Amino acid sequence: MKPSRLTVTEKPVKEIAADLLVFCALEKKDKSPKCDRAVKSRVEKAFSLGDFKGKAEEELLFYPEPKEGKAKRILLIGLGEMDPKKDPDEIFETLREAGGGIAKACERTKAKTLVLCLPEIPGFGAEDTADALAQGILLGDYRFAKYKESTRKETDYTGLTTIQFSAGKSVKQVRKGARKGLTAARAACEARNMANEPGNGWTSKEFADHAKALAKTHGLIYKCLEKKELEKLGMGGILAVNQGSAIPPRLVILEYRPAKKSQTIMLVGKGITFDSGGISLKPAQGMGDMKYDMCGGAAVLSAMQAVGEEKPPVGVVALIPATDNMSGSRAVRPGDIIRHFNGVTSEVLNTDAEGRLVLADALAYGIKTYKPDCVIDAATLTGAVIIGLGHHHTGLVSNNEKLTSLVTAAGKKAGEPVWPLPLTKAYKKQIESKVADIKNLGGKDGGTITAAAYLSNFVDKTPWVHLDIAGTAWDFTEKSYIPKGPSGIAVRTFLNLIRDWNNPDLKTDNV
Ligand code: BES
Ligand code: MN
Ligand code: ZN
Repeated sequence: MKPSRLTVTEKPVKEIAADLLVFCALEKKDKSPKCDRAVKSRVEKAFSLGDFKGKAEEELLFYPEPKEGKAKRILLIGLGEMDPKKDPDEIFETLREAGGGIAKACERTKAKTLVLCLPEIPGFGAEDTADALAQGILLGDYRFAKYKESTRKETDYTGLTTIQFSAGKSVKQVRKGARKGLTAARAACEARNMANEPGNGWTSKEFADHAKALAKTHGLIYKCLEKKELEKLGMGGILAVNQGSAIPPRLVILEYRPAKKSQTIMLVGKGITFDSGGISLKPAQGMGDMKYDMCGGAAVLSAMQAVGEEKPPVGVVALIPATDNMSGSRAVRPGDIIRHFNGVTSEVLNTDAEGRLVLADALAYGIKTYKPDCVIDAATLTGAVIIGLGHHHTGLVSNNEKLTSLVTAAGKKAGEPVWPLPLTKAYKKQIESKVADIKNLGGKDGGTITAAAYLSNFVDKTPWVHLDIAGTAWDFTEKSYIPKGPSGIAVRTFLNLIRDWNNPDLKTDNV
């Protein structure tokens, strides 16, 4: 997807030839919906017949007369009532969903070229309007067809080739917003691409190669700790999980430093490229989905793509402990005791609780090496979070109230809601071991929290948020801009957090 795919134009929409020209309509109580002059009489007629009220998701497709422009088809899409008193995050989400709806309409009509006449929304700026619609269209236009290329038919729809935003008066703001939306959506789609790669297509090596390429393109600092170095550093968790694998483990690191001295945000993503469970083997049914067990790592790496493009004033370091979790004669056994990077020993009672083992080393190493002001990890860590929250909220566990509120706000704005879970002494007690410092199994109750309790042994006093994305990384809430399969969750949350970062004093809010 090239950046040039989305352009902003000042040309009157009538003069642009496109497969699909889209106008938005705002619902008005008992009145004809508010829309652009160009389609006003059409909308009034449809409204008077009771066919179109401008409600969200409502659509009207027609074929323009020559005097109505050069487009092949015109789509009217409803946005619902746009009360300026509404929560701006909600308006943002409505527009993103409308964007997704537009992408779906393009697929239905096989439109390759799209022109969108941007709506004016009272109390909501042109920049945000363009940002949200760009996100929705680009996220909704996503498809993964890499392994179907040779059987592709000429008539198969392959997505939009060009998108033009007709800006009206606010070209400058629209350009800025469209660029932001494009950066965010492309990063999220990149995370989806990584996740869609199967276990043999995306290994620790692909993680490293991709990071290296990003570093080269954007001037980031790349480092990859290979097996020998992990051994030397004593990263017993990553090594244990990798023991059954034929592919060496890697701790992949990307560092972005702004020109001026700044705070540093550290991101850590679980990069298990396939999770068989190891000796504690998973049942066959559904095991194929465990190629998605690297979605945390994909999110973190893709966020760095956006960071590289935008060069924000805050430092960001990303770490991805990457390996698959396999079985075999060399594999780690239930009952084995390992020693993590920070010296903490752990009794591995279930080899399927591997995410916490690799994250533990990455967290401890990253905090010691980079001394970040805060750390956020994202991991498809527990099935338990799906029992608790379903597929609509990411589970959040933290040691810091301020950071929790910042991540919560960033997620809300991104349409990626998170929900907090408590982490108190009693949960930490559940992972005390008789033979080692801790164990990797906390019993069947409160599984998401006991997994986080494990991680808490490796963050020291650093303000930390853990995001359990097991329920949201794929099969996320059904929305027009969220495809079946991997969602790209957390990428846009991270990006919002980084963009809005205001050097808060976090330490005082530790709990
Ligand atoms: N990757 C899984 C968690 C998972 C399960 C993600 C289902 C998405 C869907 C993780 O490594 C795992 O296997 N966790 C175990 C932990 C248990 C053994 C304590 C789980 O949740 O069952
Ligand atoms: Mn597992
Ligand atoms: Zn796993």
